[in-house]
Amino acid sequence: MLGRLGDTAITFDELDSDLFIGINEIKLCACGTSYHAALASSYLFERYAKVRTSVEIASEFRYKEPLMAPDTLFIVISQSGETADTLETLKMAKEAGLKTVTICNVDNSSMVRMADATILTRAGIEKGVASTKAFATQMAVLWMLSLHIASERKTLAQSEIARHMAALREVPSAVKVEDELHERLKRLSKRYLHGHGFFFIGRDVFFPLALEGALKLKEISYLHAEGYPSGEMKHGPIALADPGLFTIALMPENMLYDKTKSNVEELSARDSTICSISPKPFNLADDFIPVGERSHYMLEFFEMMVVVQLLSMEVAIRLGNDVDMPRNLAKSVTVE
Ligand code: G6P
Repeated sequence: MLGRLGDTAITFDELDSDLFIGINEIKLCACGTSYHAALASSYLFERYAKVRTSVEIASEFRYKEPLMAPDTLFIVISQSGETADTLETLKMAKEAGLKTVTICNVDNSSMVRMADATILTRAGIEKGVASTKAFATQMAVLWMLSLHIASERKTLAQSEIARHMAALREVPSAVKVEDELHERLKRLSKRYLHGHGFFFIGRDVFFPLALEGALKLKEISYLHAEGYPSGEMKHGPIALADPGLFTIALMPENMLYDKTKSNVEELSARDSTICSISPKPFNLADDFIPVGERSHYMLEFFEMMVVVQLLSMEVAIRLGNDVDMPRNLAKSVTVE
């Protein structure tokens, strides 16, 4: 955020002022955790910048013979800047004459060299294979970018932008999980070492966060986990509900709380084991992880992000796994 989140405006010196001129759509393309950041940010781009936004998994986009219109801003997101599939989509977009932006953690990487513009996430070197701080910084950049575009396009009132900027300043404190909470996650983790699967559920940006929580858990614990939109559980997955199905429910106070709650109640009625992550206690939950009361749902997002990362880590440690170098995975995937 340094140098970008100013007193009265969000600025990206690395972007030309005419970058957004003539743009009617944003297309975000990425793999893995970066794809989850893309998906989460698509809600913000549409909500704040009022730009039609689509999200693509790079390995799918490559071969679908996609239509690429010149009024689309093509944004790739990548921690490493070297992921083969994402790099190839960037090449395709350039060849089609689209304006391109890379959001990346590694300066001078292939994607940074290829794109018209780059926003560096400045997370520092991320060694652990399971991406954590890269995801956090991608989300911070993407939230700021959605507001920056909103300001350029005048789709949000200045007072609204100021409210978001105040929330952004609180991100560092939202991601600072207190020892007491970490201790609680460590203790709770012993109850989540078996069972026949995990469903992480959430709505809005908490759906991509649920996908990311499930990905973290499977990457380092090797347990089966899925992320699902809360409202979609009744369309099939609820058939799996029984005490051996662990539901990790993301229940933020500031985003569709009652809607999510009624979805979790449906799962509770089918006797799924429920762990709710929320600032509000939830009677039907078997376990409850309390997070802080926040003024903005994105602050709840950032705190819950760290909570699901730590929960995965504690489960994986109890199972005796190497959380930094999990089996079968590579930090940077430069082959197709
Ligand atoms: C690999 C890593 C994931 C990462 C994905 C995309 O599969 O194991 O953690 O999310 O690549 O990497 P990128 O560097 O493009 O963000």
